[in-house]
This record gives sequence, structure tokens and C-alpha cells, in this order.
Amino acid sequence: MNSRRQFLTASASALLASTVSRANPKGYPYSEFEQRIARKDFRGMTKDVLPTPCMVVDIDMFEKNLKTMADFAKKAPINLRPHVKVHKSVDIAKRQVALGAIGITAATIAESELMSNGGIKGVLWTKQPGSYNNLLRAVALTKKDPTFMFVADDFGVVDRVEEAAAAAKVKCRVAVSVYAGLTRQGIANGKPALELAQKVDSSKHISFEGFMAYSGYASHTKTFAARKKKTAEDLAGVNETVALCKKAGMKVGIVSGGSTGTYNMDHEYGLTELECGSYVFMDSIYKQVGGKTDDAVYTDFESSMSVLTTVDSKHHAGQVTTDYGNKAMAQLTDVVKDKAWLQVDKQGAEYGLLRWKDGGGEIKVGDRVEIYCSNLDMSTNCYDRYYIAKGNDIVDVWPIMGRGGAAQR
Ligand SMILES: Cc1ncc(COP(=O)(O)O)c(C=O)c1O
Repeated sequence: MNSRRQFLTASASALLASTVSRANPKGYPYSEFEQRIARKDFRGMTKDVLPTPCMVVDIDMFEKNLKTMADFAKKAPINLRPHVKVHKSVDIAKRQVALGAIGITAATIAESELMSNGGIKGVLWTKQPGSYNNLLRAVALTKKDPTFMFVADDFGVVDRVEEAAAAAKVKCRVAVSVYAGLTRQGIANGKPALELAQKVDSSKHISFEGFMAYSGYASHTKTFAARKKKTAEDLAGVNETVALCKKAGMKVGIVSGGSTGTYNMDHEYGLTELECGSYVFMDSIYKQVGGKTDDAVYTDFESSMSVLTTVDSKHHAGQVTTDYGNKAMAQLTDVVKDKAWLQVDKQGAEYGLLRWKDGGGEIKVGDRVEIYCSNLDMSTNCYDRYYIAKGNDIVDVWPIMGRGGAAQR
């Protein structure tokens, strides 16, 4: 009896195994894929079974990047308020805060709401509420989360913030956005910035927090020496403004700015906190700005995130078709991981192209290729989740949030 039961059990297992292996040569039951992700059951899930194109994060490199930046900030010392626009992930923001970040920086009111609702304190929104929609949301978020802060570079906007904050009976926290070399936003330094800061400071329902000064052109200036020179030039006016405010008896709480490219120089030029974002993953363009020890490659942070793609067709000399097309944000400046002989090209919405010259290497239909994207913000905005990998194994999945629809603006 006992042996009969054993025989039946063994037969059933063999049948199940053969069904699974027929359905999926790698032995992974793909029909259960989404359910397993929902219950965070990653047993047997490897990069090989992932749907492509998709974003994959190398957890070891990613954690190293977070630690490098956190350690630097502690040592400098300078506060860290990392920018989330590159990752749009509450999971990542929480890890940054756990390593000492004083909050996070956000590009939109939607990102700010997302992070605050995710439990992150000290959110700094670096755009002023120009529209009525954004104004009401900024005031509502302040009411819910008094640690939330945003910027203003316009006298009229400050009037409207004061009015809306008074109506809602809240005190909004505002940093004045000043020009730091990037012709995108920021009031002129000196007298105009001082006067705006004084207006904010004397508003009953607004508290003056300090300044936001993002030196965006410095971040990607090639070579460490040139970047340092540009940072010094871009922040000189900001420092004059801060000095004027202090002379006028005002308390300047923060001077926020900086980037992955300038993180290790900004503290020398008056910033009190860093808004670096890209360092978590790095993109192919940032890798080329050069570092302290190498003018050609920026090695301070690892390329921890890649887009996994599949070779779908091969019929023409020197090229294969992939699923990494325009909708997946394919760019000519992307870089193929570990296969320098392959060049990313474009072919259509869902069709990508990899080209190479003779003598490169072997590549065939079904091969998986990993690609470092050119601009993290843009690429992240096209994907729903990060697959977190330890080597070839998937160990977690983090959603990419707040990236589409009117409510996300
Ligand atoms: C306002 C602001 N602060 C900081 C950054 C720095 O980000 P990163 O470290 O990715 O260069 C950016 C990037 O665009 C930004 O817009």
C-alpha cells in the first residue's frame, strides 16, 4: 500500500515536471508569473524568463552606489536630498533615506504627492506652482505633510501661494529658486533675489526656507577640472545672494542644488545639500563626463541598471532586430553591456536594431542583450517596474510609479 502510494506520487510529480518543461524549456511556469510577483515568490525566476524589454537592476552595484554617495555626504559633510525623477520608486527613496538622506527632491507635484504618501518626509519640489491645479495641490500637500517644501521664483506666484495658504489655514514652506547658470528657472541673483526672499519671509502664511540653485550645465561638463570651474562660476552669484540675505538679517536655512556630476565639489561652493539623482543607476551619457582620476570615464558610480532586450530576427548582414524600439526609448547613444562591438540603432516603435561590423562577435535569435540607456528620466518613464537581480536571479520587483496620466503631472 505504502509503495503503491509512493509510486502514484512519483508518477504525478514526473507528469507535472514534464508538463512544466514542455511549456517552458527553462522549467519556469510562466502562467504563474504575475501571481508569483504579486506574492513576491521569486523561486526559480531568472533574467531568462522575463518579458522584454524590461528594466533590470543589479542589486549589488545599486547598493554600492547608494553607499558611496551616502558615505561621501557624511564625510564632506553635506546633506543629501536625492532627486527621485530618475527612478520614480518609493522603494528606492526609502533606501536612500535609510542611509541618511534628509528627504527627497521631486520634479513634479505628482512625484511629491507620491513620495509623501509613500511615507517619505522632507520632500522638496523644485518647480513652482504655476497653475491653479498645482497651487491647490501644493497647499493640500502642505496641510497633510508639513515637512513638504517647494520653490518660487516669481512675485505673482508668491502672492497666489500666500492667498491659497491663508484660505487653507496652512503655512507653506518655500525656498527661492535662483539662477545658477541654467536658463530654465530661477530669479536673478543679487537685489531681485533678495527682494523676493524678503517678500517670502514677510508673508504670513509662508515660511522662507532658503534657496534652490541647480547648476544644470555644470553637471555634464566634461572633465573634473572644467566641471569644477563651471560650478564655481555658476554658484558665485548664489553666494552673493545668500550673503545679502544674511546681511539683511534673514536666516537662510538651505541652499539646495548639485548633481551626480558635481557631488564632490558642491560643498566647497556654498551648497548645504545635494539633489543628486542619477548616481543610483548611471546612464551612458553621464559615464562620459570623466572623473577625478580619469578624464574619459566617470567611474565613481556603477552602471547598475540596464534594459534587457531579446534578439527577435536575423536575416541581414551585420544587423539583428530586437524588441528594444522607439517605445522602449532606444537611443543611438545607448551602450550595449559587455559587447562594445554592438551599436544600438532604431527601427520602429516596437522594433530595435543592433548593428555590428564583421569580426565583432556571435549573436543569434533568442539571445538576450542588456543595454545602458542614455537618459534615465526618459527611459524610466516608459517602464512599469524594476526587476531586481542578484547575478542572474530575480530577487525582488519594485514598481515605477506616477509616470502617466493627467493626475501624474
Ligand atoms: C532640479 C534638479 N536638481 C538636481 C538634478 C540632478 O540630477 P542628476 O544627479 O541626475 O544630474 C536635476 C536633474 O535634472 C534637477 O533637475
